[in-house]
Amino acid sequence: MNKNNKLLNIEDLRVYYVMSSGSVKAVDRVNLDIGKNEVVALVGESGCGKSTLAYSILRIIPYPGRIIDGKIYFNNIDITALPEEEMRKKIRWRNISMIFQGAMNSLNPVMKIKDQLMEAIIYHEDAIDDVEGAYLRAIDLIKRVGLDPSRVLESYPHELSGGMKQRVVIAMSLLLNPKLVIADEPTTALDVTTQANILELLRDIQKEVGISILLITHDLPVVAEIADRVFVMYAGKIIEHADIYSIFKEPQHPYTDGLISSVPSLVEGKLKKLKIMKGEPPDLINPPSGCRFHPRCPYKMDICEKEEPPPVTIKEGHVVNCWLHVKR
Ligand SMILES: Nc1ncnc2c1ncn2[C@@H]1O[C@H](COP(=O)(O)OP(=O)(O)OP(=O)(O)O)[C@@H](O)[C@H]1O
Ligand SMILES: [Mg+2]
Repeated sequence: MNKNNKLLNIEDLRVYYVMSSGSVKAVDRVNLDIGKNEVVALVGESGCGKSTLAYSILRIIPYPGRIIDGKIYFNNIDITALPEEEMRKKIRWRNISMIFQGAMNSLNPVMKIKDQLMEAIIYHEDAIDDVEGAYLRAIDLIKRVGLDPSRVLESYPHELSGGMKQRVVIAMSLLLNPKLVIADEPTTALDVTTQANILELLRDIQKEVGISILLITHDLPVVAEIADRVFVMYAGKIIEHADIYSIFKEPQHPYTDGLISSVPSLVEGKLKKLKIMKGEPPDLINPPSGCRFHPRCPYKMDICEKEEPPPVTIKEGHVVNCWLHVKR
């Protein structure tokens, strides 16, 4: 049963890539929730399972990945149990849309932005004849993401800057007025100023239209400005989650601390980051026993190798999975 009234509630989700050489445990008993009008960040280093988690919410996990176990409630409906047809007609894009990792580079290079947007509108709204309606909607969407329709709609992707292309991609994600937008690394590959502008845009849209956003990034500082809450993922597991203030001011997991330490000063940050992040990223076919972070943790104790740490509530809404915080 869905225990709360959140927009999205993921419970004990396991998603594995099942291969003859073994299963990649990309998402392993993950719990995560997103409220209405909330911006939740999912943060963790490359390969920890962020995109896989996002794909599961839309049920578009690439082969040979599959949901092994767990539930995903959207508005109290368990979407892991929905027939594909309903998923396609009612949930995907209409209720939950996604800005894919690297999407701005996969815009069709030989089609004007106008045509790409209109094609998507006509396809999704089953309004084959309403070309004029689609055009007006394209203008509206382009305006909404802060671009000039007269310039952008007649352009080909290569005529636009990276930031403008990313705005177009954001416009596309808003096509059907979804309630939840998943943004997978929406600012990677953009310069710092453009990154800030794109995040500001996402925040503005979120406030204006009242949507929820799941913002995926490997870069914790990126989320500081716009997220309400943060979930930190390590090797297929959520190891800490809290409101944004607590994550930055009182991080409890050594890994979270390491992610934050890369912020303040380049030299100091790098030294501290190196100290904590040394070692190989874990193999998700045979992940480390006990706490998956133990081989890289500067505070490792005996128990960390042996048993998985239970969730410990530091204060309401702030939960960490780390033996340092278990009273024994
Ligand atoms: N199709 C696939 N088959 C087998 N393993 C896969 C497949 N796709 C992803 N994986 C593995 O699943 C794990 C999680 O990958 P995922 O792409 O979800 O990570 P991520 O956190 O999004 O990484 P990044 O920050 O680089 O985008 C990785 O170990 C990856 O190698
Ligand atoms: Mg990814």
